[in-house]
Amino acid sequence: MEVRFPFSLEGKTILVTGASSGIGLSVCRAVVASGGSVIGVARREDCLKEMENELGAGNASYIKADLSLDADIEDITLRMPEVNGLVYAAGITRLAPLKFIKRHDLEEVMNVNYFSMVLLLAQVVRHKKIKRNANSSVVLISSVAQQVGTKSSLLYTGSKGAMSAGSRVIANELSSQKIRVNTIEPGMVQTAMASEMEDMLSKEVVEKDMKQYPLGYGIPEDVANAAVFLLSDASRWMTGQSITLDGGRYKLLD
Ligand SMILES: NC(=O)c1ccc[n+]([C@@H]2O[C@H](COP(=O)([O-])OP(=O)(O)OC[C@H]3O[C@@H](n4cnc5c(N)ncnc54)[C@H](OP(=O)(O)O)[C@@H]3O)[C@@H](O)[C@H]2O)c1
Repeated sequence: MEVRFPFSLEGKTILVTGASSGIGLSVCRAVVASGGSVIGVARREDCLKEMENELGAGNASYIKADLSLDADIEDITLRMPEVNGLVYAAGITRLAPLKFIKRHDLEEVMNVNYFSMVLLLAQVVRHKKIKRNANSSVVLISSVAQQVGTKSSLLYTGSKGAMSAGSRVIANELSSQKIRVNTIEPGMVQTAMASEMEDMLSKEVVEKDMKQYPLGYGIPEDVANAAVFLLSDASRWMTGQSITLDGGRYKLLD
């Protein structure tokens, strides 16, 4: 009897949003390294082209799209092939204390981090672009921020809370088609987004925060490896769950 390595993504095609940098780009690399192929989605075409060149046109392709636009979400759904999995890694962050928050700020962050995730999945399911009854898998990159209450993070934390809570409803609705839905909730991972946050804070605040991570800050590959597990058949019995990846930040206390 042939024993198939369950962590392999051989034969699987995965749509990855946020593929132009950071965690999304790292997921693209990890999927291809695990035997699968990717279709990357983002706005920066030069970065997407680089990703395609690096991974090889047979393994990677891309669709340039702005996820905050309904027309672009529809375009992705029409152009993409039927896939075995989808990783939603697109996202933005904003820092602001409660008293300065305006409707526009809420709409900007919620749009990309939550509304577009829901609308893209709705279209993908409606147009039958994710394989049914074939152990397909959806991985949503949420954040450990949604488990705690960091000052000035309301815009971002609220959007990730919506994503994590919503993921369980989506998981329930898609379970009859054996499509699994799970989230990854990372702490600080060294990407452009983390640098953006660091630029908004003082050096002292960043150094203090870093010291609170027993295993230090994460790197994009830490998240990508967990995504590969969730996309693979090794996690075939797992849905409606989240994996926290924070180097021990919130569970290991002095
Ligand atoms: N880094 C961390 O510490 C950390 C921690 C927890 C969770 N996360 C989450 O991980 C995900 C990836 O973040 P990252 O750290 O890898 O940051 P990043 O390097 O800034 O990546 C963000 C990605 O989102 C895409 N994106 C943003 N707005 C978009 C839009 N309107 N349409 C299409 N794509 C859009 C960007 O592509 P374009 O600019 O090319 O469009 C980029 O590929 C985010 O959801 C973030 O919230 C990050």
